Amino acid sequence: MHSAMYPGSFDPLTFGHLDIITRASDMFDEVIVGVLDNYRKIPLFSVEERVNILKEATKDMKNIKVEAFSGLIVDFARQKNCNIAIRGLRAISDYEYELQMAQTNRLLSKGSLDTIFLTTSLEYSYISSSGVKEIAYFNGDVSKCVPEFVAELIYEKYRQQKR
Ligand code: PNS
Repeated sequence: MHSAMYPGSFDPLTFGHLDIITRASDMFDEVIVGVLDNYRKIPLFSVEERVNILKEATKDMKNIKVEAFSGLIVDFARQKNCNIAIRGLRAISDYEYELQMAQTNRLLSKGSLDTIFLTTSLEYSYISSSGVKEIAYFNGDVSKCVPEFVAELIYEKYRQQKR
């Protein structure tokens, strides 16, 4: 079986992420979306909430699995018996960080974890999770950036925070 993992924070899931997941699901028998539980960042959505959002958004794609992970990508990949990580590239500005991460992961895994980059579709190349949060915080329209149910959840989070 040819499987790949797609690690990320997904805080929140955007159409850019969904585009990468959809295209990866056509390329591999199985894609494991790894949702990072990052002790260094306080996310808008808890890791459980992000996993549930991803499960809901990918429920019609039968070869997508969504799981939380903490720690290193290489350890998660080893646990899952997976030797390909997928990452999206939106612009040249993403490249430096992504290259460094891909090379670090290859080194840490002693050559067993390679990274495949998919270029984000042009219509989503301007979208970032942090941009979405900023727009939503000020009640701006994020309907072009995230699925409707995700937009509702983000607005609700900020309504609760502002109370
Ligand atoms: O969606 P993001 O925030 O761009 O994803 C970043 C992510 C989760 C892929 C990255 O922070 C990560 O892999 N963290 C896990 C720790 C790790 O393995 N670091 C070594 C690679 S430099």
